[in-house]
Amino acid sequence: MSTKSRPLDPCLERLRAISREQPRAFFAPGRANLLGAHMDYNGGLVMPVALSKGTYAAAALRDDGMLHLESAQFPGQIVEVPLADLKPGRTKGWSEYVEGGLWTSMERWGMLPGLDLVLDADLPMAKGLSSSASVECVAVLVVASLLGLDPNAEEMIHLAHAAETRYVGVRCGILDQTAIFLGKPDSILVFDCLELTREHVPLDGKQAMVAIMDTGVARELASSAFNQRVAECTSALSIFQGQIPGVTCLRDVSAEDFAKHADRLPPALARRAQHVIAEVQRTEEGSNALRKGDIATFGDCMTRAHHSLRDLFEVSTPELDVMVEAAVAVDGCYGSRLTGAGFGGCAVALVHPSARDAFEQSVTKRYAESTGRITEVQWFSPAGGPKEIEL
Ligand code: GLA
Repeated sequence: MSTKSRPLDPCLERLRAISREQPRAFFAPGRANLLGAHMDYNGGLVMPVALSKGTYAAAALRDDGMLHLESAQFPGQIVEVPLADLKPGRTKGWSEYVEGGLWTSMERWGMLPGLDLVLDADLPMAKGLSSSASVECVAVLVVASLLGLDPNAEEMIHLAHAAETRYVGVRCGILDQTAIFLGKPDSILVFDCLELTREHVPLDGKQAMVAIMDTGVARELASSAFNQRVAECTSALSIFQGQIPGVTCLRDVSAEDFAKHADRLPPALARRAQHVIAEVQRTEEGSNALRKGDIATFGDCMTRAHHSLRDLFEVSTPELDVMVEAAVAVDGCYGSRLTGAGFGGCAVALVHPSARDAFEQSVTKRYAESTGRITEVQWFSPAGGPKEIEL
């Protein structure tokens, strides 16, 4: 899909209506994580792709120190605030993510003299595709570009991540912002959240496409439930740390150590830790398979990950489970799982291109039969990261 598509033009039009400055335009993608669920804050591997859909921004400087912020997704909810007044807790809702990205980057790089900013997105919100991180990333890119800076991806990842943890107050790991900034066409990123090493493993588009299936159920209470999972993992870790020397994160706990000490954990914490420890092994298996071009094994790891997210980490929903089972029942589907944190939203599958039509028909039919809901399948190839759009 071209980035010069529909959402940008209304943004530019609106910006030109409020500013006489020459606008600049930016885009940041969303992401789907294929393997490595809830691994980032446990020191494991994640394997995401950036999507060709995301957030568009039209931006222009102003000279009165004010931020004027609009989003086509929230018509009429205009934010007018001195840039110097941005601070965590100032507001709740969609603008927090934008403000967070502006705040962390201006704290790091210096203040803008004022900013008119209009956003739109073709990425559905609250569906597990990182619409919020996409907004944070575009905000960081806007500040860097308007200040005339060209920071490296790591610095921008760090600032966009801090927007979420420090401004919005979600204790997320580094997955989403990393997946977005390090997105590369036709590649799956293998990112080690402990060692911070990265590798782009090619995904042959003739062998596999990424299908995103929307359950039609928005995530509910996702940030509080997410923070609860993070807290549970932290509690499990501290119990292991009392038993095993040198453990710094759950990834350091081996399957043998888990078996030896699991009975010290309350049952819910034991299930959370069991997921993480098995997912560490699955991500090893999956990344090795991917490097050899063995998409079948990688896909099988995805499906097994979903079962573990359902039974042990307990972040799935009945609709996500139906969707994943409908997907993997189709010949030519390598594997499927919920994407993002869970609690609703979208499932992702890897599918052979020759099975595309059959997949769409079968999944929509089975999903409707089981849930009474309509789903839409969207197709992607892994895409590139954030960028300025030439006007
Ligand atoms: C959310 C968080 C990420 C990651 C995933 C689960 O998307 O923002 O940091 O923890 O959930 O893998």
